[in-house]
Amino acid sequence: MKDLYLLGSTGSIGTQTLAIVQNNPGKFRVRTLACANRIYVIREQIKAFHPAYVSVKEPSDADQLKREFPWLEVGSGEAGLRLAATYDSQSADGLMVNALVGIAGLEPTIASLEIGRDVALANKESLVVGGALIKQIQERTKAKLLPIDSEHSGIWQCLRGEDPATIRRIYITASGGAFRDKSRADLKTVTLADCLKHPNWQMGKKITVDSATMMNKAFELIEAATLYDLPIDTINPILHPESIVHALVEFTDGSLKAQLAMPDMLLPISYALFYPERLPTNVPLLDVVGLKQLHFEALDRKRFSLVDVALAAYRQGGTALCVLNGANEAAVQLFLEERIDFLDIETIITQALIQWDNQNNPTLDELLALDKAVKAAIISRVYPPKE
Ligand SMILES: NC(=O)c1ccc[n+]([C@@H]2O[C@H](COP(=O)([O-])OP(=O)(O)OC[C@H]3O[C@@H](n4cnc5c(N)ncnc54)[C@H](OP(=O)(O)O)[C@@H]3O)[C@@H](O)[C@H]2O)c1
Repeated sequence: MKDLYLLGSTGSIGTQTLAIVQNNPGKFRVRTLACANRIYVIREQIKAFHPAYVSVKEPSDADQLKREFPWLEVGSGEAGLRLAATYDSQSADGLMVNALVGIAGLEPTIASLEIGRDVALANKESLVVGGALIKQIQERTKAKLLPIDSEHSGIWQCLRGEDPATIRRIYITASGGAFRDKSRADLKTVTLADCLKHPNWQMGKKITVDSATMMNKAFELIEAATLYDLPIDTINPILHPESIVHALVEFTDGSLKAQLAMPDMLLPISYALFYPERLPTNVPLLDVVGLKQLHFEALDRKRFSLVDVALAAYRQGGTALCVLNGANEAAVQLFLEERIDFLDIETIITQALIQWDNQNNPTLDELLALDKAVKAAIISRVYPPKE
C-alpha cells in the first residue's frame, strides 16, 4: 500500500487523484490533504479518506475543522502546507502529489524532495520558478519527480527503455486553448467567459487562462527541458487541435515515438501514482479507425507571442523566470476578476520583465520575496492606493 500526501486535494487534479484512490481499494493510504479555502470540499474528503493531517489556508478554517474532527491534526498557511508534504518525515516512503496551483507549490516540492520523498508533480509553476534549486536537491537526495502533466507523461512513456543520449527532438502538442481560431484583432474583445471554455480539457481556471495565452505551453517547454535535462531548443511546441497525441520523441536514427490517448488527466495521474506499474483506468479507449484525421501545424509565434517572451526569460536564467511567473499569476488573477482585458496579460508580463533586474543563483527565500514584490507592484498599479 502506497502512502499519499496530497496537496491541492480540492482542485481539478486533486479530486481526480482521489477518484483513482477510490477506484483502487487497498492500493493507497491517504496520509495528508491540503487546500486553500474550499472547506466544504475538504470536509467531505476527510470523511471519505481519513487522513492523519490536513492543512488549509486560514487559521480560522483550521480551527473550525479541529472542532468538527477532534481526532484530526490540522494546520494552516505555508507551514501547514510544508508539513502536509513532509508528514511522516521519519520515512521518505510514499508519494507527495503536488496538485497546487501557482508558486504556493514551490516550497512543498522542495520540502518533500529534501526529505527524499518522490513528488508526482502537476504544479508546473514550482519547476519553472525553482528548477535550478530543485535539480540541486534531487542530486543530493536522489528523490524523483514524476510528471503528471499529460505532455510530460507522454514524453516519459516514450522514453521508457530508451537511452536519453539518442533523443534528437521532442514535440509537445498544444490544443491552442479557447482562442485558437481567433486572430490578434479578435483577441481585443474576448471575454472571461469565452476564455474559460476550453475545447478539449476540463481544468482549473488559472491553467485554462494560461492555455488561451499559451503561457501554459511555454511553461511546459521549460518543464520538459528541466525534467529531461535537455537544451530548450530540442523541445518544440506544435499545434494539434484534437489533443490525442500528447508528445512525440524523435531519436537520432530518425525514428519517432508518440504517446496517444483520449484527453483525460486520469491517465497521466494514474501513470505517476502506479509507476513503475501500468494499471487499468476508466479512461475511454481511443477509436483509432474512427479518428480518420489528426492535424498538426506550426505554432504561430507572433499570434502567441508569450512563448518567445517566456523562452527569453528561461535563457536569461536567474530570477527572470520568477518575475515571469509572478507577473503571469498576478495578471491572470486580475483577468479572472475581470479587472483587465485578455491582451493586458501579455503587456503586464512583458513590462515586468523589463522593470525587474535579473539576479543569478537566487535562494528559495529570495525567490519567494521577489514573487510577492512583483505581484504587489502589479496589483497596486491596477488598484492604486487611495489618496
Ligand atoms: N487541471 C488539469 O487538467 C491540469 C493538467 C496539467 C497540469 N495541471 C497543473 O496542475 C496544477 C493544479 O491545477 P488544477 O487545474 O488542478 O488547479 P485548481 O483546480 O485551481 O486547484 C488548485 C488546488 O490548489 C489549492 N491551492 C491553491 N492555492 C493554495 C494555497 N495557497 N494553499 C493551499 N492550497 C492552495 C486549491 O485549494 P482551494 O480549492 O481551496 O482553492 C486547490 O485544491 C497547476 O499547476 C496546473 O498547471 C493541471
